[in-house]
Amino acid sequence: MNLVLLGPPGAGKGTQAKRLVDKYNLVHLASGDILRAQRAASTDLGRQVAGYMDAGELVPDELVTQVILDRIKDVISCQQAGGFLLDGFPRTVTQSQDLDSALEEARSRIDAVLDLCTDRELTISRLTGRRSCPACGAVYHLSSIAPKVAETCDRCGGKLVHRSDDTEQVVQQRLEVYQQQTAPLEQYYQQRGLLRQIDGNLDIDQVSRQIEQVLVELAGT
Ligand code: AP5
Repeated sequence: MNLVLLGPPGAGKGTQAKRLVDKYNLVHLASGDILRAQRAASTDLGRQVAGYMDAGELVPDELVTQVILDRIKDVISCQQAGGFLLDGFPRTVTQSQDLDSALEEARSRIDAVLDLCTDRELTISRLTGRRSCPACGAVYHLSSIAPKVAETCDRCGGKLVHRSDDTEQVVQQRLEVYQQQTAPLEQYYQQRGLLRQIDGNLDIDQVSRQIEQVLVELAGT
């Protein structure tokens, strides 16, 4: 099963992805995580994408698409996982078209696009309060999912960080960019019969239950 998680910054894509990959043995391909790892390793790509990410702009398609498509091809050719879960990719219509072409060539396809529809004000408060662990990837929130010890990961003891693009000003810009460049994908996938809308405003367990429902329906078709 190959899935795409769509939704604005702070909709809860990463949070739901962690649950889904364990349950369905999927490979989690999160474009933001992949780009942040390139930055942390100071690669050429990492240096090229840093300015765009810090400003809340999308990285140009030509820098991001091939990196993700190569990972997808690896997953398909290994045949060890139950499929892949895309989180943060595609983000433009051009990325979607390139993804479709690559999957067609590999005789694969997307089974569903889970669209976490979430109100703007809620996503802003989720992101400005988010703290992440760069060591193990755990995600917290200062008020709703606070770590037991301030600024410290419960799971691995790593020091939590506030992402540089999670300030209110940059989050506002990311939301604008989402509306302009990524929201048109809803229509793109609606026309292909793949879009499944999920209420992302609900609590984490309620969102998970809606997704489960969709996946059960999908398995029955
Ligand atoms: P990326 O890292 O992909 O960021 P994003 O899409 O903006 O998504 P986030 O990670 O901010 O949010 P999320 O939906 O995963 O929320 P989370 O689960 O963490 O991209 C960053 C940048 O990289 C982009 O701006 C761009 O520059 C570049 N980039 C990446 N991909 C690209 C591409 N394909 N093309 C071009 N550029 C690209 O949850 C957020 C918080 O809310 C957490 O604290 C969590 O605990 C909490 N929370 C989650 N769900 C709930 C809930 N249901 N109720 C209450 N709290 C919740």
